[in-house]
Amino acid sequence: MEAETVAAPPPASGSLRALAGSGDAGAGGDLLAGLVNDPPAVRLGSVDRSAGDALPTGLEELDRVLGGGLVPGSVTLVGGEPGIGKSTLLLQTLASLASRGTRVLLVSAEESPEQVRRRAERLGCPDDLWVVGATSLPGIGAALEQVAPQVVVVDSIQTVWDPGNEAAPGSVTQVRSCAGALTMLAKRTGVTVVLVGHVTKDGALAGPRTLEHLVDTVLSFEGDRHHALRLLRAVKHRFGPTGELGVFEMAEEGLRGVADASGLFLGDRRCGEPGSTVFPSVEGVRPVLVEIQALVAPGVGGVRRSGIGVDGARLGLLAAVLDRRARVDVGPTDIYASAAGGARVAEPGADLAICLAVASAAMDVAVPSDVVVIGEVGLAGELRQASHTPRRVAEAARLGFRRAIVPASSTEVAGLKAVRVSTLDEAVTATLGAGRSVRSDLRRPPSQGRP
Ligand SMILES: Nc1ncnc2c1ncn2[C@@H]1O[C@H](COP(=O)(O)OP(=O)(O)OP(=O)(O)O)[C@@H](O)[C@H]1O
Ligand SMILES: [Mg+2]
Repeated sequence: MEAETVAAPPPASGSLRALAGSGDAGAGGDLLAGLVNDPPAVRLGSVDRSAGDALPTGLEELDRVLGGGLVPGSVTLVGGEPGIGKSTLLLQTLASLASRGTRVLLVSAEESPEQVRRRAERLGCPDDLWVVGATSLPGIGAALEQVAPQVVVVDSIQTVWDPGNEAAPGSVTQVRSCAGALTMLAKRTGVTVVLVGHVTKDGALAGPRTLEHLVDTVLSFEGDRHHALRLLRAVKHRFGPTGELGVFEMAEEGLRGVADASGLFLGDRRCGEPGSTVFPSVEGVRPVLVEIQALVAPGVGGVRRSGIGVDGARLGLLAAVLDRRARVDVGPTDIYASAAGGARVAEPGADLAICLAVASAAMDVAVPSDVVVIGEVGLAGELRQASHTPRRVAEAARLGFRRAIVPASSTEVAGLKAVRVSTLDEAVTATLGAGRSVRSDLRRPPSQGRP
């Protein structure tokens, strides 16, 4: 009976074959198989806790995000935009695991084994890992049976299909069905599964979004394809905190972990340049440092307020508050602001960082490079605390910043020095000095004094 083959280790003995063709994993006969094979109840105290110890991958930045490594029998989904480096990351991960004596299998459903080999050679990866170009669930099952790996990477889950499921390959139903089968396999056999998932431009895991509840860990691999910096974060993690950030640099020979993240980050930023602030933004629960840049030019025939990654209307409002409440005379100027690196900053907590970037550009005074700025600005020039301040500050501290300009009401700030200010005026003084003189080319002719 098939149920027999779905039983315990060694990993993958025919399990996927049994699971394949079931349509929705967990339906029909396989649900029964699951019941037949489910383990008996045990006393918690008698459970061998070392069995769940994480297996370090040897890629420090990845292990940092995972809180030590891959937990045996767990399922991890790695999402990222096309071309960001997911296949590179996972090939390097498998090669590293293999060099540490772990038996690994790469299910390369998108690239042929020849392409994988070429990539491995380019990256200088050891080649003692197993690879299969299978795309069907039974094909993967056969490879798992043949290789009996401890860790299997499926690149990508969107290209895997279950012949027993009538939905079109690549459809959400197929993706869910296949991921369900692989997850069940991981739980039953202890094989560690890593699934690669493509995300759409707006950051949603296309199709795999629906997998997030199914898997144990969801990692997001982000970055601007045109820049070398890559960030790896845990969006969901059953075995540890999600706040950690892994930083990599994409080089010719593959991804390099960046130990001195702040150095790299500040390296990209032109320190000492007026018109720049760093804002620790939070997307969902994830902190990400964003550089806000501003450019102020003499307004010619009407003034312009324009933003990229920063809302133009909000920029106009903040410029007016800066002008009226903080005495920085930007009224007659054109103001452009952008969130560098293609980031988008929509939260009000970025107000103060935007204001200080504009003030810095107008006054031609740089904001000190070790400062991050957090806070919402009210129309009266008063500052309000932003949500998740400790998380933002912790991220900034981790990346090497030393001071945070925060509203006086902010919750406790640990890890770096908090400069507490109550008004925008105080914030300008604390970061740019007490003077308020703007660049000479921005000044109004004496005949047009401030209204
Ligand atoms: N032959 C090569 N030489 C140098 N760099 C390369 C080469 N092939 C790929 N790269 C670089 O590696 C980057 C990451 O590629 P990778 O295939 O790992 O990304 P991916 O996220 O898996 O992409 P996809 O969504 O297409 O699967 C590419 O964008 C490119 O910059
Ligand atoms: Mg790829």
